Amino acid sequence: MAHYRMPMLDETGYVVLDSFGGTMDPAEWLDLEYVDWKSSGDTRFAPLASAQGNIECNGFWHVDPPKADKDGVWIASQVDKAPTLAWRAQQPGANVGRCRVIELQPNSYADALYNSHLDDNNRLNPDGEGWVVRSFMQLTDNPDSLMVLREDINDPSTETRLRLPAGAQLVVDSERMWHSVWHVGTEPRYCLINSFESGPALEKWLDATHAVTGAESAPIDGAMATDAEVEAQRRRAARTEHYGYDPSSVRSEA
Ligand SMILES: [Fe+2]
Repeated sequence: MAHYRMPMLDETGYVVLDSFGGTMDPAEWLDLEYVDWKSSGDTRFAPLASAQGNIECNGFWHVDPPKADKDGVWIASQVDKAPTLAWRAQQPGANVGRCRVIELQPNSYADALYNSHLDDNNRLNPDGEGWVVRSFMQLTDNPDSLMVLREDINDPSTETRLRLPAGAQLVVDSERMWHSVWHVGTEPRYCLINSFESGPALEKWLDATHAVTGAESAPIDGAMATDAEVEAQRRRAARTEHYGYDPSSVRSEA
């Protein structure tokens, strides 16, 4: 038996939802407790739900007993500071694994390609249950920043770039799609990331939010992209040489 996967994600591995229309108080993400956790660049994370309700970001399979990235335990001290964020993660009614805010410092397109990776979403997820995917709920208004998705990290023609204004919402099969963010600007970017189990509840939420597949890719300068591709692949190759294997081929715990 295989995991249940949502047909909506079959075609492109991601969907774009309606923007979140409500207003958000930046205190909900600025006042949280963050832990240093490097993933996809210069980042910190503030967990709202973790494997056991502690303020840490380890994979759920590291706890005793190990568990799949589902049934996240809410962290009261964080939820108290961010009730709307916790509500947004729970509102679809799907099983929530990790729920956390990412803080990402500005970077370059080449950095984003260098940092691109696959997530480890389904370790210990029992056969027959729903495939775990990720939702990205953009908090800060960064319309010039881009979520960079690739089906094949070595093939730029498989890339889709999605703009990240405040309220942007995506659901991505991030164990299939290489992903990272090119964040333009001078201030950090904040985004709520949730692990959701595929199933009827999540599908109902995607329908209600008019999720669409195959969104239009944001344009970028061709010469810049060519140079960045060369730089990123050179840095990726050097990293592989250094470690003796490609660490981005080992799915990220973050
Ligand atoms: Fe990731």
